[in-house]
Amino acid sequence: MRRYGILALAAVFFLSGCGSRGENVVKSIKIGVTVYDQYDTFITGLMDSFTACAAQKEEETGVAINLEVMDAAGSQSTQNEQVQTLIERGCDIICVNLVDRTEPTTITDMAEKNDTPIIFFNRELVEEDLERWEKLYYVGADAFESGVMEGELAADAFLQSESADKNGDGICQYIVLEGEAGHQDSIVRTEYSINTMMEQGVEAEKLGYAIANWNRAQAQTKTASLYAQFGDEIEMILANNDDMALGAIDALKAAGVSEEDWPVIVGIDGTDVGLEAVQNGEMAGTVYNDKEGQALEMLKLAYALATDSGWEEVDLEDGKYIRLPYSKVTAENAGEFEDIRGESDS
Ligand code: GAL
Repeated sequence: MRRYGILALAAVFFLSGCGSRGENVVKSIKIGVTVYDQYDTFITGLMDSFTACAAQKEEETGVAINLEVMDAAGSQSTQNEQVQTLIERGCDIICVNLVDRTEPTTITDMAEKNDTPIIFFNRELVEEDLERWEKLYYVGADAFESGVMEGELAADAFLQSESADKNGDGICQYIVLEGEAGHQDSIVRTEYSINTMMEQGVEAEKLGYAIANWNRAQAQTKTASLYAQFGDEIEMILANNDDMALGAIDALKAAGVSEEDWPVIVGIDGTDVGLEAVQNGEMAGTVYNDKEGQALEMLKLAYALATDSGWEEVDLEDGKYIRLPYSKVTAENAGEFEDIRGESDS
């Protein structure tokens, strides 16, 4: 009985990524991933792209890429346990979409102890935390850029439309729908979208704001109560992401407000539904958060770390960071972004 046990163990070890590097030729690798919330629309799209990139890399290189993806469902302690499990299951590398970006210490310590590199993604930890060990990396985008672009889109839409200034006082009365409190993208997008809109020549007055945690349903509820309070005074809705912009639209529709009376609405992400809303004019614009690019760069880095090959395809900033640029999307160019998606799906 014991002998069979040992044989089975040897077989598992042989078949797993870590056990198959005979003569320095890597035949398979295992990448673990844990996401903060599998129901987040942008993260779902990013993970779909990541899976597609892994399949393509496998085809190109002949190296089997085993992915094990887990959902932390909003709990940092669950995520810590998942990282431990992924290490025990022999992952060569783990990609972590932190639940709480201020709490990477437990994960970092486990990773260092087991010499398993970590790529943090999308939820950016502070630099000092990333400096704690040499095999920690970050893949994402520059939050400042998204805020500035959203502010520019908002200003253009407000200044170009005669009906946007509903009360004709020359001031843009706005509300903000914010993502999670403490998330780098919420803080920075809120501040920079407003500042940029004003720098572009729009005098602005904040009527109110609500935290809706990137979530469409929460944004609908919060917008409904802001609308009950301010009604037609609201001339602009700046949402930290598309799902919340769409939640605001849901609230306006549910309140029976006709489309010509809607405030100017802008978002960020360029999700499928977001792009559609820009194309049909429900949203004035969005900022494309390049999930395909982020997924590809993360996969190339994970592959290079796991196989110690393909480094020529990896472009690290300060030896640790990869940041993909954002792009502005309006009804004129929204179709081009649908094409990007189409290409990466095929
Ligand atoms: C942001 C994205 C949001 C949400 C968040 C999760 O970059 O714009 O929609 O997905 O990440 O961390």
